[in-house]
Amino acid sequence: MKTQFFAEMFCAHIGIDLGTANCLVFVRDQGVVLNEPSVVAIKVYTKEVLAVGSEAKEMLGKVPGSIQAIRPMREGVIANYEVTEDMLRYFIQRAIRTVPWYKRLLRPRVLIAVPSGITEVEHRAVTDSAKHAGAGEAVLVEEPFAAAVGVGLPVAEAAGSMIVDIGGGTTEVAVISLSGIVSAKSVRVGGDTLDQAIMQHLKKAYSLQIGENSAEQIKIHLGSAYPMRDDESMDVKGFDMMARVPKTVRITAGEVRMALQGPISMILEAVRATLDTCPPELAADLIDRGIMLAGGGAKLVGLDKLLTDETGLPVFVSEEPLNAVVNGTGEMLKKIHSWSIVTE
Ligand SMILES: Nc1ncnc2c1ncn2[C@@H]1O[C@H](COP(=O)(O)OP(=O)(O)OP(=O)(O)O)[C@@H](O)[C@H]1O
Ligand SMILES: [Mg+2]
Repeated sequence: MKTQFFAEMFCAHIGIDLGTANCLVFVRDQGVVLNEPSVVAIKVYTKEVLAVGSEAKEMLGKVPGSIQAIRPMREGVIANYEVTEDMLRYFIQRAIRTVPWYKRLLRPRVLIAVPSGITEVEHRAVTDSAKHAGAGEAVLVEEPFAAAVGVGLPVAEAAGSMIVDIGGGTTEVAVISLSGIVSAKSVRVGGDTLDQAIMQHLKKAYSLQIGENSAEQIKIHLGSAYPMRDDESMDVKGFDMMARVPKTVRITAGEVRMALQGPISMILEAVRATLDTCPPELAADLIDRGIMLAGGGAKLVGLDKLLTDETGLPVFVSEEPLNAVVNGTGEMLKKIHSWSIVTE
């Protein structure tokens, strides 16, 4: 009890959405204090960290041989442990600087949102990384649950709520009732897969090679899941692999939509699979309550319309889809009085 009191008083409480694309940090009593791309630039030989976040993302695909810009998280899990730890350390230290001095007397308690489909080993890897990065206590919460709390779904009610969180690396679908996940599916398909599909299309159709950042820009400015903007077009600059010179190509939204169809059908399949395994009583609730979309992928033009067509359910896009998970961790930090109730 005493330990609990000291921890409440003298340590910072931090919620982290450790995303494949973006890392967001919430500090209790303050709100979101950090929102940066999950990218780290390091010196190849010394492993010294040169930049973290937006500054490092700018460097992706543009660095000289002696520097490497790395995305340490892929498909929702840690692909590079050392660099993930560097990134977590940087974020935790920056978050701690925002709290009063007396809240730095003990090492911070950190609540981290992770994909629901990760293995025991991956679980352990995230908690270990957080502890090495300076956390006193690190507990994990499943991303779709945090997202549902973050967008304000009534998770505690004895009724089904459905959340679809489309991130950079994973899509998490879950039906929640009585504060627990009843039916869920996590697939390693997300915004990155859509970017890759655009890169593949340009390679095949125009032998044009482009980088990840350019593909993401095309997806954001021209991408869609439903024929709503097919006539729009934009110029894309890249490298002509046949002529071996830089080249500009004009592409249409229609062709980008076609290129995205493959990965989008995998997202639809995950939604269907979750509905299939959902108990009928809860499935019935969804007819009125519908499906809530969160994560950056929720912003893809026409995705809500396509999902409505495919499922017959009402579909809503949350107000701040990119902040859903971190807001959920923030909300949970308020209520976690006994940390033992959250299992590692
Ligand atoms: N307007 C938009 N249209 C389509 N996609 C978008 C848009 N804005 C952002 N995105 C995509 O959303 C993704 C990032 O979303 P988010 O920050 O929720 O992912 P994450 O939480 O880092 O990843 P994960 O949950 O898979 O670990 C990126 O792939 C980005 O390109
Ligand atoms: Mg996410």
